[in-house]
Amino acid sequence: MSNNRVSRRQFLNYTLTGVGGFMAAGMLMPMVRFAIDPALQTKAEGQFIQTSQKIDEITDVPVKVDFTFEQVDAWYKSDVTEAAWVYRDGDTVIALSPVCKHLGCTVNWEGDSAHPNQFFCACHAGRYEKSGKNVAGTPPLGPLDEYEVSEKDGFLMLGKKIPNTLV
Ligand code: FES
Repeated sequence: MSNNRVSRRQFLNYTLTGVGGFMAAGMLMPMVRFAIDPALQTKAEGQFIQTSQKIDEITDVPVKVDFTFEQVDAWYKSDVTEAAWVYRDGDTVIALSPVCKHLGCTVNWEGDSAHPNQFFCACHAGRYEKSGKNVAGTPPLGPLDEYEVSEKDGFLMLGKKIPNTLV
């Protein structure tokens, strides 16, 4: 008899180990897949969200435009409503984020009658110029963010938030 022969006991061990491993993989794969699923999802980059704001009704006076989109946070989906301050500068449509760069309150156009033609944050009297540039000497240390802007069928489309390009 050769020393290389597999005994009945070894054969049984190899077979059970193989079948057991196969079954364990079959049970674990769906669990692993579920755990990392959000990371496997492809995200549409540069997606624009339609607003109800008509492009030809945008003037040089900022107006607040609300828009809603579906937010996916891991396995949780929810509708989120955000806003932008939108105005026209010549042929260019500008959309600024209303989120104050100090502590995140919402800024309002001409919210302080003592400082017309500026955005005002009532939380700590932060002020911004029309371009979103923070006024020196007030709490915000940076300019308001911008939204990417596009047009579809005469309506304003808003894209992702980007650092202010106007200041
Ligand atoms: S949060 Fe706007 S000034 Fe403080």
